Amino acid sequence: MQTDSSFTFVLFGGTGDLSMRKILPALFEAHRAGGMLADSGKIVAVARHAADRGEYLQWVNEHVKPHVSKNGVDETAWASFLERIEFVKIDLGNPEDFTLLRDAVKDLPGIRVFYLATGPSLFVPICRALASVGLNENARIVLEKPLGYDLKSSNAINDAVGEIFAEEQIYRIDHYLGKEPVQNLLALRFGNALFEPLWRREWVESIQITIAEELGVEARGDFYDNTGALRDMVQNHLLQLLSIVAMEPPHSMDSDSVRDEKLRVLRALKPINPLDIGKVAVRGQYHSGVIRGNAVPAYATEPGVKQNSTTETFVALKVEIENWRWAGVPFFLRTGKRLADRVAEIVVNFRAVPHSALGVSALRAGANRLVIRLQPNETIRLYCLAKQPGEGMNLASVHLDLAFDQFFREGQMEAYQRLLLDVINGRLALFVRRDEQEAAWRWVEPILNEWKASNKPPKPYASGTWGPAAASAMLAQHGTCWLEEEN
Ligand code: BG6
Repeated sequence: MQTDSSFTFVLFGGTGDLSMRKILPALFEAHRAGGMLADSGKIVAVARHAADRGEYLQWVNEHVKPHVSKNGVDETAWASFLERIEFVKIDLGNPEDFTLLRDAVKDLPGIRVFYLATGPSLFVPICRALASVGLNENARIVLEKPLGYDLKSSNAINDAVGEIFAEEQIYRIDHYLGKEPVQNLLALRFGNALFEPLWRREWVESIQITIAEELGVEARGDFYDNTGALRDMVQNHLLQLLSIVAMEPPHSMDSDSVRDEKLRVLRALKPINPLDIGKVAVRGQYHSGVIRGNAVPAYATEPGVKQNSTTETFVALKVEIENWRWAGVPFFLRTGKRLADRVAEIVVNFRAVPHSALGVSALRAGANRLVIRLQPNETIRLYCLAKQPGEGMNLASVHLDLAFDQFFREGQMEAYQRLLLDVINGRLALFVRRDEQEAAWRWVEPILNEWKASNKPPKPYASGTWGPAAASAMLAQHGTCWLEEEN
């Protein structure tokens, strides 16, 4: 991926956690790899917590460097990376300070990117302040999630930002879309004739999408307690994955063709009937337990979390898509913190053969399934039945594996690196369009409302397990179970 387009990348929240862990390391990787960032491209960090450029670079050395290149830092590349960085001290509460930013960037080359790695309450004030000094023109703006708390608040942000930036200037990040395996899912589906004919209700019995984490809420208790797993993971990451799994083949890979198809899926999600919520949605909250041999505390005792909090840290859902391809096929979604393993994967369960001349084992549900492991260890695994060696015709489950790190030893890119390069190069396909975001909120909101109205606490689960038993019971009603791969 080469670029000769120069850029000025303005990073708001320059000393924040996201800048430290993800954004600056991703920019460094792109810089180190060579040929991805124009030599003249500049990074302008905006923050309050450093006095000047020298102090900011010191902070970058201390805090960002530990997060770059797992295999050690290339010191020459690191030194030249620091040369790209400028610094502007701005108090975001003071719009007048933005003249400092205007002066700092006025002679810098290329397209301007404003990356808002700040809380959402600052999105609108920052955009307005940028407009007040004319910096919105011909620029791109990147908005981090969470973009709002519900449809109304997300619309309020989108309306206000939309008065200042046109939709084609707005890059809403969902970092799951930048993950290599998610790209691979598109390649698998639309680059191979093999799978597409089977990718429909006639051959698919059910689909599972899991994003499981071992981590708890870490230092984000305060934020998380007002958010919960449905807003934090389902409204965005899981529904985005679902839309990619279920979408029709796009006419081309240009931004709007892909996003139009994803939108059609989101709009076709069967609305959840509040009376059915107990059958199709499970919410849970972690209690204390053991993860990899270490005792971990209950959610309710985490710093920042309210006593007796009823915020969910686990969600499992049965989702249906009302269109010809998927009518009647359940999509089971699941996400949670403090689960038994860190894993993100998609499992496509194919139907059993219609008639078996080989005994009942060939009629077993799930005998044919395709498992797309997004993380860790990106793999695609196809399960089939084969004859066990020896006498008689006994079938056993075997699998074909495609382990990506064995085929492609180089060129793997972190999600943020890919997405930042896309912003700099003006590629919108992997960013969420406003109408997609609205459709996702529209579908999720009745669940949030119903949970709130019913006032029932989430179901407890011990840390280090796969969540509340009700999540398994939901699948059992459909004659299936959650399928967890060995790591
Ligand atoms: C973020 C959520 O969007 O995604 C976090 O806010 C979550 O709560 C994270 O931990 C998971 O991302 P990844 O890439 O580590 O699977």
